[in-house]
Amino acid sequence: MGNKTAGDHPQDVDAFGAPPNVCRAQREGAIGIFDSGVGGLTVFQAVAARLPDEPIVYLGDTARVPYGTKSPETVVRYAQSCAGILLARGVKLLVVACNTASAFALDALRASVEVPVIGVVEPGARAALGRTRNRRIGVIGTSGTVSSGAYLRAIRALSPDSEVFAQACPLFVPLAEEGWTEGEVPRAVAREYLRPLLNNAIDTLILGCTHYPLLARTIGAVSGPGVTLVDSAAETAQAVAATLEDLGLRAQSTGPARREFLVTDAPEVFTRVAKRFLDAELHNVEWVDF
Ligand code: DGL
Repeated sequence: MGNKTAGDHPQDVDAFGAPPNVCRAQREGAIGIFDSGVGGLTVFQAVAARLPDEPIVYLGDTARVPYGTKSPETVVRYAQSCAGILLARGVKLLVVACNTASAFALDALRASVEVPVIGVVEPGARAALGRTRNRRIGVIGTSGTVSSGAYLRAIRALSPDSEVFAQACPLFVPLAEEGWTEGEVPRAVAREYLRPLLNNAIDTLILGCTHYPLLARTIGAVSGPGVTLVDSAAETAQAVAATLEDLGLRAQSTGPARREFLVTDAPEVFTRVAKRFLDAELHNVEWVDF
């Protein structure tokens, strides 16, 4: 299904605007979103806002977080396990909200699952290219994301003469989870991490990690007004909407859509930290086996 562009011809669609080979059960399946933990809720929020009528199942792999320090092989294995949990729940499309998993596991997932798979790297690269004026783009992310070179490849594939400067910022993840997003400590950390990028005269900075949007004010203050911050969540949500539309997979139901939250460990910790990400209380976070 991943490579198909259905509904190109008017005679190929049914009364719901879907191609005849897309059955109602497929359309009514949920969007599955996974992340190594709680950070992917920034992507969940953007997808839920863009597609309020689409059911969503979110999985946080809290038993195996963090992914950002793990080997590519391990991240691929964890990502496949997360995809398996969501596919068993009948999801119609997978969103890899985790930048590290998008960087290492997207190709492996696309080759092994039957539903469309959307990561955050390509939408982030596209958004950055839409905003840069000097084509000097900074990328910050986990050690894994930076060492993968995934953003560099995605940007260069669209704009071969763009310059990309990447910096791992591992301390931003615990800072965001602890709620230390503003003040002396995060500002000092941001200054250290961002100095090499700012010395390279970037005008655009990709927040290439699920947690970094929570630190956007601090990162923005340190970067200064000449640097545009890019959060791939909104762009990813747009890619999800376009893919569902193209494949005739948009849900037809009206009214409030189902939102489910699954974790592989400690639902109460997820619920507590999720409050910082969503500004809302989650109820009934389900603990699933993996
Ligand atoms: N979700 C990860 C990412 O966006 C950050 C946390 C982790 O290291 O697992 O890369």
